[in-house]
Amino acid sequence: MKDATRATHAGRRPHDNHGVVNPPVYHASTILSPTLAALRDLAAMEDADATTYGVHGTPGTFAFEEAVAAMEGGFRTRLASTGLLACAAPLLCYLSAGDHLLMVDTCYGPTRRFCRKMLRRMGIETTFYDPLVGGAIRDLIRPETRVVFTESPGSLTFEVQDIPAIAAEAKRRGCTVMLDNTWASPLYFKPFEHGVDVSIQAVTKYIGGHSDLVMGAVTTTEAAYPQLREGWKQMGLNGAPDDAYLAMRGLRTLAVRMPRHWENGLALAEWLAGRAEVAEVLHPALPGDRGHELWRRDFLGAAALFGFVLRPEFSSEERLAALLDGLELFGMGASWGGFESLMKPVEVPHSAVPWPRPGRPRGQLMRVHAGLEDPGDLIADLAAGFARMGRV
Ligand SMILES: Cc1ncc(COP(=O)(O)O)c(C=O)c1O
Repeated sequence: MKDATRATHAGRRPHDNHGVVNPPVYHASTILSPTLAALRDLAAMEDADATTYGVHGTPGTFAFEEAVAAMEGGFRTRLASTGLLACAAPLLCYLSAGDHLLMVDTCYGPTRRFCRKMLRRMGIETTFYDPLVGGAIRDLIRPETRVVFTESPGSLTFEVQDIPAIAAEAKRRGCTVMLDNTWASPLYFKPFEHGVDVSIQAVTKYIGGHSDLVMGAVTTTEAAYPQLREGWKQMGLNGAPDDAYLAMRGLRTLAVRMPRHWENGLALAEWLAGRAEVAEVLHPALPGDRGHELWRRDFLGAAALFGFVLRPEFSSEERLAALLDGLELFGMGASWGGFESLMKPVEVPHSAVPWPRPGRPRGQLMRVHAGLEDPGDLIADLAAGFARMGRV
């Protein structure tokens, strides 16, 4: 079965539900048992395998978990209320006091904060590593290293990681390999074919796709699942029923939306690369990008989230405001992955690798998300913005 087919059919059993196409939404806390024997049977069930209590899931959230697992190509998926929790909670499931974590320096900012504050307080030490480390990660693995966390391409600066090389070294040393796979979505990077044990999706972004929900999903291999299941049970983690329903709606059209996001993102990146105001475009699908060869080797497509660096003379607050304030089709705000285009300036919080790297341009870094609009209209909006900028 191809992904487009899977996206429309996974997690659906209409004939178990009066022929209704979509799985129903259950709003539930208490799950009643008709007899004492049934109560005892329910108590013996694993929370993730049956509807035992609303906290641990209902048929609607289980259906969405099943669909995400199928799309990611993993064994099981568990939901969390946000993408950030889907990054943070697995670290709690697989790490203990005294353990060491290798976290990519280009991780999502709040993931970094969680390592620096919460994990440190719990006696877990984090080393942030260069996303371009590749197989040399072996030199950073200590006897007490338990998890190697990856995110590819990296948040804000879009370095593509050599996941197979990193995973091979990590596995050799008995470490669990985690990946924040949100950029690629389950369509464009197949984590479990590249050695990943635990794959994270901020469902908020492309799976949701409509800027109207927040949710996270964590998918694992069969071997890694018991530890995740146990942690989820202990912490009572779950996704809300209505949001799981909305997210399932998003998933059904993922395979139609993503190619358009890819195409629009690349069209904007190519146009920006030709502008005199732009020093550098950071987009792995752009030929000549540092990560292009790895992207071609390992990815099946590209997201619409990318960066560009303005030349220093175009990076003043006045010029930025001239560019951004009058844009009609690009919004400014947190998150991405919806149907609408976004653009904003961003600051890089790296600690292990300098930004910019030696010899690279020093101007203002911008983050763009290309929505599903007509690419010509988006480019015209940007062109008008650059013209305003030029008049300042
Ligand atoms: C790469 C990445 N991972 C995780 C998250 C967290 O998702 P959420 O906003 O749902 O907490 C984000 C949010 O921007 C993200 O960009």
